Amino acid sequence: KTRNVAVIVGSLRKDSLNRKAALALADLAPEGIELSIVEIGDLPHYDEDAEAAGPPSSWTRFREQVKVSDAVLFVTPEYNRSVPGVLKNAIDVGSRPYGASAFSGKPAAVMSLSQGAIGGFGANHHLRQSLVFLDMPILQQPEAYVGNAGSLFDENGALVPGDTRDFFKSFIETFAKWIERTGADGEDSQ
Ligand code: FNR
Repeated sequence: KTRNVAVIVGSLRKDSLNRKAALALADLAPEGIELSIVEIGDLPHYDEDAEAAGPPSSWTRFREQVKVSDAVLFVTPEYNRSVPGVLKNAIDVGSRPYGASAFSGKPAAVMSLSQGAIGGFGANHHLRQSLVFLDMPILQQPEAYVGNAGSLFDENGALVPGDTRDFFKSFIETFAKWIERTGADGEDSQ
């Protein structure tokens, strides 16, 4: 059975390095998993009053896209040593209404990319704090802090061959195994 992975990219800009990384991971994914980006740029700021009045259609669309997926992969930059607000907003939208979180129990993995040397470590771990609360089994190894990301893609946006590409491949292969193990009908599930 093919496992569908919802990919959430924490940057909205057209030339986002994180989006390029997400597309590269989709290309490198092994047989048995399929990655598709779920867009978050059109989600209004979470507001409980809007929920009570009847949620915006984009919130409902986003929640459904996550709910029907078998796992969630986050690929995100670091903003001020934390997650970009747009990504935190998507998490908040998907986690509600109370008791009906779209994320609950779904296997997750996090990759952070930065043009700097630290590879988005701060964003990566702030994000993990929310995912623990959302009851998502998160891949722990390999960790994916991708630094100096500006030099990893060619003029067509493709990941250049080399160590990083090899790492991306093993990262997504390990996540595929993690999904089999911890996903809905995996060996670790009840
Ligand atoms: C950044 N950037 C950044 N980089 C980093 O390594 N640590 C940080 O804390 C921050 N903070 C930060 C705040 C804000 C508001 C912006 C706009 C940017 C730089 C950031 O990593 C860089 O712009 C990446 O290229 C963004 O990822 P995308 O858009 O290329 O995917």
